[in-house]
Amino acid sequence: MIKNIALGLGAVLIIIQFFRIDKNQPPVDPTLDFISLEKPPMEVENLLRSACYDCHSFESEYPWYTNIQPVAWMIDYHIDHSQEYLNFSEWGNYSLSRADHKAEEVIEYTENGEMPLWSYRLMHKEAQLTDDQRQVIMDYFTDLRVQIQAKQADANSGGSTPDANDANDANSGDSTPDANDAIESN
Ligand code: HEC
Repeated sequence: MIKNIALGLGAVLIIIQFFRIDKNQPPVDPTLDFISLEKPPMEVENLLRSACYDCHSFESEYPWYTNIQPVAWMIDYHIDHSQEYLNFSEWGNYSLSRADHKAEEVIEYTENGEMPLWSYRLMHKEAQLTDDQRQVIMDYFTDLRVQIQAKQADANSGGSTPDANDANDANSGDSTPDANDAIESN
């Protein structure tokens, strides 16, 4: 019995090796990429590239074990999934309120140690951020939020009559989740 189960599992493990994941990513557009647009200090750029860009951008690097199933599926899922939430390669497409909201979440997720994902940290030594490195990321995104909010204020004061869009922008600064936040966090 146990021998049969082991044989069955072995066969499944062999068969799934024939499934390959799609490693093609869209080309990176420098007019939309976070680092090209915001030009963070070198230290921040390096941290983002080594700890976040593999999942949250189109610049994923696929190490050798991404040829081994079922690990490959898990990684593929994480990359697709994480790009939906936050994609630094599409930063330029985010509205100001969305960018502000994402920056806020970067601070939160970095502060509580949720990001980068633990399974990634296991395999990537450079992504095991020290407290100082996490602080560097948090400080940078805190400053960035101030800049984004200043742009929002500018855009709002420039407009003539307030419209629904302005109302959304005005709400995005607070931290209480509203209907708008709920949509954006998906
Ligand atoms: C191994 C892949 C991986 C790496 C590396 C990674 N993330 Fe994530 N991230 C995810 C996934 C998957 C999600 C989706 C939500 C979840 O599972 O919590 C996510 C969600 C997020 C969110 C939430 C966005 C939202 O709108 O809810 C933020 C912010 C975030 N990550 C920031 C970072 C930062 C900053 C780094 C680098 C320090 C990083 N992540 C590294 C996989 C990754």
